[in-house]
Amino acid sequence: MKLKICNLSKIYNGHHALDSISLMLEKVHTLVLIGPSGGGKSTLLRIIGGLEFPDRGEITINDQPVLFEEDALLRHRRTIGTVFQAFNLFPHLSALQNITLPLEKVHGYSATGAAAIARQLLTHFRLEKHAAKKPAELSGGQRQRIAIARAISIKPRLLLFDEPTSSLDPEMTAEVLDMIKALREEGRDFILVTHEMGFAREIAEQVALLADGRIIEMGSVAQIFSHPASALTRNFLAKVLRH
Ligand SMILES: Nc1ncnc2c1ncn2[C@@H]1O[C@H](COP(=O)(O)OP(=O)(O)O)[C@@H](O)[C@H]1O
Ligand SMILES: [Mg+2]
Repeated sequence: MKLKICNLSKIYNGHHALDSISLMLEKVHTLVLIGPSGGGKSTLLRIIGGLEFPDRGEITINDQPVLFEEDALLRHRRTIGTVFQAFNLFPHLSALQNITLPLEKVHGYSATGAAAIARQLLTHFRLEKHAAKKPAELSGGQRQRIAIARAISIKPRLLLFDEPTSSLDPEMTAEVLDMIKALREEGRDFILVTHEMGFAREIAEQVALLADGRIIEMGSVAQIFSHPASALTRNFLAKVLRH
């Protein structure tokens, strides 16, 4: 992806959740956002995904500006795959139907076409045996993997992951991280918010640390983790890497 963000601000009740953020990425597949809670990571992802309006600023994805008005945003959202912490799936639908429903209702696929895409993805990610199960019959890790398969099913130009493993037990975290790693190997473009620092180091091409609505530091894995320039970055890493 090529991503350009210019002076992006979001204010909630007089508080800057994002305070004039700017960044420029050329041909980066994997951007990982880290930083303390409340720093603005989710707000940034939601705005990039067209789920929220900024108060100021501009975003350009692959040279196309994101237009923050309703009709354009509807179209924009259809090109972005999003996976959040948990509870993404419709509880009354099977795993398969969770994937086919948006394809049919939002993306205009026929029932047969949607089912073919869903089955192919479930097989690809070794989830086919869960096709008929409802979310309550799946483990947390399986649910997140179905949610990721659904995000991919729409052939998004960009995937957004907001702490996709933070509500999972460690053994389930691993299976979801493995799936995200496989997506990285397939060359897909995504932005990932995570507290899994080991994983961030493993897969990021670029890492940005957000705190207090600002990008404190952005750079390669080596720069951020081995040679952080900012005291804030060093303090944050010291805290999260202590255990
Ligand atoms: N919908 C909202 N309404 C009011 N305040 C919000 C809302 N969403 C986020 N905030 C505030 O914006 C700041 C950034 O939040 P968030 O983007 O969720 O941070 P992070 O994901 O890094 O933890 C926080 O102070 C949070 O309380
Ligand atoms: Mg968040």
